[in-house]
Amino acid sequence: MPKLCIIPGDGIGLEVIPAAVQVLEKIIPDLEVVYAEAGWNCFQKYGVSVLPQTMDTIRDCGAALFGAVSSPSHQVQGYRSAILTLRQELDLFANLRPVRSLPVVSPRADIDMILVRENSEGLYSGLETIQDGRATATRVITRQASFRIAKQSMRIMQQLNRKKLSIIHKANVLPLTDGLFRDTVREVVSSYEQQGYCIDVEEILVDVAAFRMLSDPQKYDVLVTTNLFGDILSDAAAYWCGGLGMAPSLNLGEGIGLAEPVHGSAPDIAGKGIANPIAAILSAALLVRFIWQQQEAANQIEAAVHQSLIEFGDLGINPSVHMPGTQVILNRILANL
Ligand code: NAD
Ligand code: IPM
Ligand code: MN
Repeated sequence: MPKLCIIPGDGIGLEVIPAAVQVLEKIIPDLEVVYAEAGWNCFQKYGVSVLPQTMDTIRDCGAALFGAVSSPSHQVQGYRSAILTLRQELDLFANLRPVRSLPVVSPRADIDMILVRENSEGLYSGLETIQDGRATATRVITRQASFRIAKQSMRIMQQLNRKKLSIIHKANVLPLTDGLFRDTVREVVSSYEQQGYCIDVEEILVDVAAFRMLSDPQKYDVLVTTNLFGDILSDAAAYWCGGLGMAPSLNLGEGIGLAEPVHGSAPDIAGKGIANPIAAILSAALLVRFIWQQQEAANQIEAAVHQSLIEFGDLGINPSVHMPGTQVILNRILANL
């Protein structure tokens, strides 16, 4: 029986996660769910952004669905972003961010890419200091983390029968760090080639990659990149699936997964009942596909989302523009399951 730790978090996390849980409970009737706390609300209540029992529950379940948390953009004594803490403590080293054209809401119909973001190091190493008007951040790239993100990319490519890998880096300016990343990814690709699994590989400097994300996004298949580049490119890519309200992601570790929409806690719309639950629902589908390996159930969730968008379109409603309401969108998806 699959077990799931649910962490709604803050803001619209409290609205979109219960919607995604309803979808999961309909498609997997024997799902066992356990609720846990993390985020800014949790910090205000208990003085920590992630409770120790939250960590234990995720480890015990092996799967979590996370909403979003709010983080102040100035330093607050004792506070550390809950999602960064979870990624680090649970060694969630890969972040899968698929972006596919969706009916009605996508600006174009030919997009089908998966961004594989290194999730454990780079500029997220937490090594930031300031002294005498000079602030520095250390960008850590290791062979070990580059190796495992490359292997993860290859595993995903094999599972989903993908053909082209774009390695995105900035080795022209960062030859040691991004050179190591690039060379390690190439080494892993070669080892697969020697075993008879061949793909197309290209290298793109991150600035050109950003331009291409706008000019020719349909040319991307699987992208692998370092942490901050992946963060930035995945928000840009999300435009093509209809915006942040539609963009799912899955943080992966060894035998553990934490799904979360790409969007944040959206304080501007929180509490109004208008948040789009589709990103959270598609994130839940990623758990179903990649953690519980229930391909048919994942396909059904995705098909219900597609069908619902088509039906909204027939009514002249584009849910990423008109925001029909969390409950209205959820009801339609449940009806199509
Ligand atoms: P955001 O993603 O919360 O919102 C950006 C814009 O997109 C807003 O206008 C918002 O209304 C809209 N939006 C986002 N999700 C939507 C949805 N489901 N339906 C409809 N519209 C949606 O980003 P932000 O405003 O930069 O950040 C707000 C807070 O969230 C910050 O504290 C930030 O640190 C945090 N954040 C958390 C996560 C996370 O927990 N994984 C991710 C990003 C940002
Ligand atoms: C994301 C978010 C996080 C990140 C923030 C909230 C720490 O933007 O999941 O993309 O930078 O990774
Ligand atoms: Mn981001």
